Amino acid sequence: MKIKSAEFVISNSDVAKCPNTNIPEYAFIGRSNVGKSSLINMLTGRKSLAKTSGRPGKTQLINHFVINDNWHLVDLPGYGYARVSKSAKKTFQKFITDYFINRHQLVSAFVLVDIRHEPQPIDLEFMQWMGENQIPFSIIFTKADKLKPKAIERHVSQYEKVMLQKWENMPDFFITSSTKSIGKEELLNYIGQINEELKGSFTK
Ligand code: GTP
Ligand code: MG
Repeated sequence: MKIKSAEFVISNSDVAKCPNTNIPEYAFIGRSNVGKSSLINMLTGRKSLAKTSGRPGKTQLINHFVINDNWHLVDLPGYGYARVSKSAKKTFQKFITDYFINRHQLVSAFVLVDIRHEPQPIDLEFMQWMGENQIPFSIIFTKADKLKPKAIERHVSQYEKVMLQKWENMPDFFITSSTKSIGKEELLNYIGQINEELKGSFTK
């Protein structure tokens, strides 16, 4: 899929105020600093469409972007950020879980995980929560530029092994780097294909 246009629509902390437009929607979620906003910029080819930062906790709201005038990409705040209070850290922020539960336009989420680290309890818990709430998701491994190909392979198979302790199948997954534009075509084609299959079930 080619990106012809990518525009910011609206930010808010209330799922009820998200755009009413009935178009397919995909959301990026994951730990603070994992690279959600950077990936949106990489995929859209727009350097500062989504705000990024070296410091965790940059994205604080639900941010909608409209792509090619016919689907939404959503940038969400990260979870697991140490500076928020313990209780806020433990339970995922309510407006985020409300978003996932109530956003009927959401086709699939992408849970981003840093490819350098071992599977983290908070990510596994989040995926568990998604499963329990029947919210479809895929996994995106980020920052692949930081590892050599052999290490990437090792880390991914380790992740798969841990996932299969709880899940029947490994979810679809993608290996990406925003700095090196790795995984761009694969991810855009994946979304493009789903959009194609959903034609007809969304009427604007
Ligand atoms: P929050 O909004 O705080 O939840 O973070 P985020 O997940 O949106 O992360 P963001 O895109 O702001 O990136 C966090 C940091 O990681 C920044 O310093 C980015 O430059 C860096 N980063 C993001 N993606 C990559 C990548 O693919 N490779 C490398 N090397 N660094 C990356
Ligand atoms: Mg962000």
